[in-house]
Amino acid sequence: MSSHFLQSFPASRLRRLRQSGWIRSMTAETQVSAADLVWSIIIHDGSTARSPVAAMPGVDRLNIDEAVKAAQKAEALGIPAIAMFPHINPELKDADGSESLNPDGLVPTAIRAMKAAAPNVGIICDVALDPFTSHGHDGLIDSAGYVLNDETTAILVEQALMQGRAGADIVAPSDMMDGRIGALRRGLEKDGQVNTMILSYAAKYASGFYGPYREAIGSATALLGDKKTYQQDPANSDEALREVALDIQEGADLVMVKPGLPYLDIVRRVSETFSVPTLAFQVSGEYAMIQAAAQQGWIDGPRVMLETITCFKRAGASGVVTYFADKVAETLA
Ligand code: PBG
Repeated sequence: MSSHFLQSFPASRLRRLRQSGWIRSMTAETQVSAADLVWSIIIHDGSTARSPVAAMPGVDRLNIDEAVKAAQKAEALGIPAIAMFPHINPELKDADGSESLNPDGLVPTAIRAMKAAAPNVGIICDVALDPFTSHGHDGLIDSAGYVLNDETTAILVEQALMQGRAGADIVAPSDMMDGRIGALRRGLEKDGQVNTMILSYAAKYASGFYGPYREAIGSATALLGDKKTYQQDPANSDEALREVALDIQEGADLVMVKPGLPYLDIVRRVSETFSVPTLAFQVSGEYAMIQAAAQQGWIDGPRVMLETITCFKRAGASGVVTYFADKVAETLA
């Protein structure tokens, strides 16, 4: 904005445009609608329909019947897509995460059921091994605990192909291995899955905000060490642009910045630099903070929830992945 447009007081009284609801909404620079949301859900193969996640009040792990209901709810509310994350029975976990390739496993079974019940809701599948590995890492590890890049990528390709065959619309690698987007794209093309989209968690940081999620999927107690040798350092911003540039070059259709609110500067830079749909992930710890304060009566939960979505969009996000999606959509309806 150039100073050319500035008038001095009282010609400019900026409060004139704030005096009532109709003029505020008429001049609002950012609009939020249900179409901006991706609903992240946790699924499980437990015997109970819903099992609460203690660190995420209001979020339950859903069995397949409940996941189907969630898909129908998303459709009714105008939420375009669901991103699902599995809590896997600990007995099925091993060092290689082999259950991740089971075509009759929890994830592909859920995809088929949700697609049958709500075909117009996009299904986004997490591509990573951490829900399936006994050590809680996103890939294979060597004897020193180092996560192996190329060996992991080969398995991720198999995992994504299996998800695509089950009906996933978007495969979303959240693992941060180098070169996995190119490998996934080549694998999908070769398999005839030319329209399966790739949402790359391109700029994903090694963050403390994932704590509640690790409880939700049951990887917290297992996790050996941390994920700093593959996820990004929160200190870096230029590095995020390199990550995104590479992933676009390798064939990502959409990119993600994660976590969300503390990383809005990254959302802004990515969305301004690249002409590619940029999602932001309001992760489990962000959800937990808002819910915890709201439960105490310290903040107005629904108001803060909607405010955060507005802020993501104002920063340049094309959409927001959030555990609040149903609540936000209900508020907007
Ligand atoms: C890992 C993965 C993580 C989340 C989704 N996929 C966390 C991690 O890196 O441990 C976090 C989601 C959230 O916190 O809501 N593949």
